[in-house]
Amino acid sequence: MSISLPRGLTFFCFSPYRRTSPRAHTMTRRHRRQLRLLCAALSLAAPLHATHASPDDAAVLQAWPTRAPARDAALEARVEAALKTLTVRQKVGQITQPEIRTITPDEVREYAIGTVLNGGGGWPGMDRAASPAQWRALSDQFQAAAQQATPGIPLLWGTDAVHGHNNVRGATIFPHNIALGATRDAELVRDIGRATARAVRATGVHWAFAPTLAVVQDVRWGRTYESYGADPALVRRLGQAAVEGLQDGLKDGRGVLATAKHFIADGGTRRGIDQGVSSSTPAELAQVHGAGYLGALDAGVLTVMASFSSWTNSADYVQHGKMHGNKTLMTDLLKQRLAFDGLIVSDWDGIGQLPGCKNDDCPDAINAGIDIVMVPFHWKTFHANTLRAVEDGRIPMARLDDAVRRILRVKFSMAVPSAVPATMDALQAPDLARRAVRESLVLLKHRPGLLPLKPTARLLVVGAAADSLPHQAGGWSVTWQGRDTTNADFPQGTTLLAALRQRLGTAQVTFDADASRHDPKQFDAVIAVLAETPYAEGEGDVRLTENLRHSRRHPQDAAVLQRVAGRGTPVVTLLYSGRPLYVNDLANKSDAFIAAWQPGTEGAGLTDVLIAPADGRPWAGFQGRLSFPWPAGPCQFSTHEARPWWPIGGGLSGKETLVNTRPLPEPADPAPICPL
Ligand code: GLC
Repeated sequence: MSISLPRGLTFFCFSPYRRTSPRAHTMTRRHRRQLRLLCAALSLAAPLHATHASPDDAAVLQAWPTRAPARDAALEARVEAALKTLTVRQKVGQITQPEIRTITPDEVREYAIGTVLNGGGGWPGMDRAASPAQWRALSDQFQAAAQQATPGIPLLWGTDAVHGHNNVRGATIFPHNIALGATRDAELVRDIGRATARAVRATGVHWAFAPTLAVVQDVRWGRTYESYGADPALVRRLGQAAVEGLQDGLKDGRGVLATAKHFIADGGTRRGIDQGVSSSTPAELAQVHGAGYLGALDAGVLTVMASFSSWTNSADYVQHGKMHGNKTLMTDLLKQRLAFDGLIVSDWDGIGQLPGCKNDDCPDAINAGIDIVMVPFHWKTFHANTLRAVEDGRIPMARLDDAVRRILRVKFSMAVPSAVPATMDALQAPDLARRAVRESLVLLKHRPGLLPLKPTARLLVVGAAADSLPHQAGGWSVTWQGRDTTNADFPQGTTLLAALRQRLGTAQVTFDADASRHDPKQFDAVIAVLAETPYAEGEGDVRLTENLRHSRRHPQDAAVLQRVAGRGTPVVTLLYSGRPLYVNDLANKSDAFIAAWQPGTEGAGLTDVLIAPADGRPWAGFQGRLSFPWPAGPCQFSTHEARPWWPIGGGLSGKETLVNTRPLPEPADPAPICPL
């Protein structure tokens, strides 16, 4: 907020950006008390506007390029004409986004609601087995209700289709973005976007809350796997491809709205704490955390989601606070300097985290630039509070009109009726997903000549995750956390174990989950599958008292490997994980060690690389290369470590004849308390 005061005094009196620089503490206690009294007196004297200007605005904006607006006159005319037909109450309905479990079609009509979402673990009728036809039927009901309330203005349904249409049982689930980053294959990412859009449209949904464009700085973050990597240029290239794929065919009912998220610097928070504070200079904000957004804008992305996180300018210690209230970055930068004409959606109850705000009441967030408010549960009181805020001027009508104009522009930029049939077939893309798995695997250790295994090999498969689709798919898979699911929730999926048995025959493949019942010496090779327990968002954060040592966080994996290692039979270890982890002790017990990320439903993509081609075709080897550095120690959380085990770009093809297979160093203390 700002008032007409000398800039310095304004800043000290009213800036919500508390100055945290050393300079701020040179004042004596008496001076500070005097200043507070002066500020209190002045605050009664001048009108406050929630403009949230901060003293470093110019420096922040000037770190970015400028982009020219590209308006379509016919579209703008249609938008203006529709805007004129709406009452204030209907306009507030357009900016209100409830979750499908808390609103009925009748209420959509009664409140003239313009958009809904299903969150992770939100399904029609709260039935996780709901068919595409059932999704489509509910969508049609919402749409019909919206058309009755505001004829000619469609309703939009948004969903987290972040690795396929992952909320729907039976849909093909692709590897998460961390795996796609290892492929570096923009064409593949674009094709996955198209396939995901087709699946989403089949269910009558219009909007995918993807891609995440985070450039992760600390892999303790529970959303590391949603990122393409730690290289801004790679994130930009793949993020642009994802948007192009998702939005391809938008105007003919095949494509869906993409979402550049989470704006901005969600992956830069201190210690990787989800929804925490990201500190960077204006240049780093633009060049590192902004890279993905410039690519998405080039691809014509039509929606952006605000980040739960906060930003501090590390060049001058100005704390800009929560992104959901940051007018400088959402409006002055994104909408004006970068000429973004689409809409900004808040995150799940994100407005409630702003100072002085509640989940159902936050004019400041809307005045800062939020156009649609994701208010999953308290949407009725939000609707009433916001209508009141417009009527009493706390939200200027011009701001509400701008938000609705943006919403209408997005709605009229796409064909709302889906051109995709509501069949399960439309949600299938197994060959594409299998290719993604093949291209994403990264070989970190290999005894030359071990891989590929012969089709005649007798295999002992150990590790419970070898036969677990929940572990293979990771978070955001049927449920939000990707837990409390079983293989039955993925009827279309193939575990690694099943894929091996399909490829080699059941007789050749023995499964012993905890490796307690068989002697490895009876087999030609052991395949060990280790895995992180699936997680999403902050629930996946590595806590400050923990470290990256996988065997400490999953001791059962270490025990399994201990039982099969060093018994004269080679061990091929695969790790399902959402982030790079410290695995020296586990790699030392393996003859080959593979980062498999979270491969999704197509386990055959794993056997395609592990087993030599049946028809004598040349083996393609391992094509994946790391998009994050791989840690050499349990405390190497940063993606800028000087001496990782492998750097970004690292990985073996499996065809090398000379490879350093010396044991990796293991620290004396297996569980150090890492420096904060
Ligand atoms: C979540 C996530 C966001 C997601 C939204 C809707 O909290 O932060 O990525 O799109 O809510 O599920």
